[in-house]
Amino acid sequence: MRKIVIASNNPGKLREFATLLAPFFFEAIPQAALGISEADEPFATFIENALAKARHASRAAQLPALADDSGICVPALGGAPGVWSARYASHGAGEPKSDARNNEKLIRDLADKEDRRAFYYCSLVLVRHADDPHPLIADGECWGEILDTPRGQGGFGYDPHFFLSQFGKTAAELTDEEKNRVSHRGLAMQELSAKLKAQRAFPD
Ligand code: IMP
Repeated sequence: MRKIVIASNNPGKLREFATLLAPFFFEAIPQAALGISEADEPFATFIENALAKARHASRAAQLPALADDSGICVPALGGAPGVWSARYASHGAGEPKSDARNNEKLIRDLADKEDRRAFYYCSLVLVRHADDPHPLIADGECWGEILDTPRGQGGFGYDPHFFLSQFGKTAAELTDEEKNRVSHRGLAMQELSAKLKAQRAFPD
């Protein structure tokens, strides 16, 4: 079993990544278990942030690393909240993140907009070592529309306001299985999995 460090502290993501990697004989180790701090995410694109997180964890652990970066993009708001999704309503890095305040701000910002379309986006990066010149890169997006009134108790973040017409439900009303099948992270994982299956994707 070869080891890989996961550059995330989110228990839900850690579980999903461990499941993704198990068929490829990877033992997934959370970065916190190795005492590795969270990397800065200063960049304007998801892919740059995901790459920075993966490189940081790989360098610190001296192991391959997997990282993701995700968020929600609203075309009527020029792509915002985008890479700032986790801290959309926070002023400065010191102010704690709050899903409730982020959702309130999103609904306020959309008050005079007719176009309610939005998509979740996920960039996923696997580096074989910190200076890997050709990381495995996958991405996924999931389209829906923003409802003013929240629905559902599941999920996290913007899910209670994110309506998927193919289910007639918000993301917070989906089962885990339904969400994983269509979500930005689920689709990115399927793509990464296909790349890992390709013979030369991860030579020993
Ligand atoms: P990160 O990828 O953990 O940095 O997540 C960024 C932020 O995007 C989260 O804090 C949420 O606000 C939002 N986000 C990402 N994925 C989802 C999702 O599946 N549901 C709801 N919100 C999400």
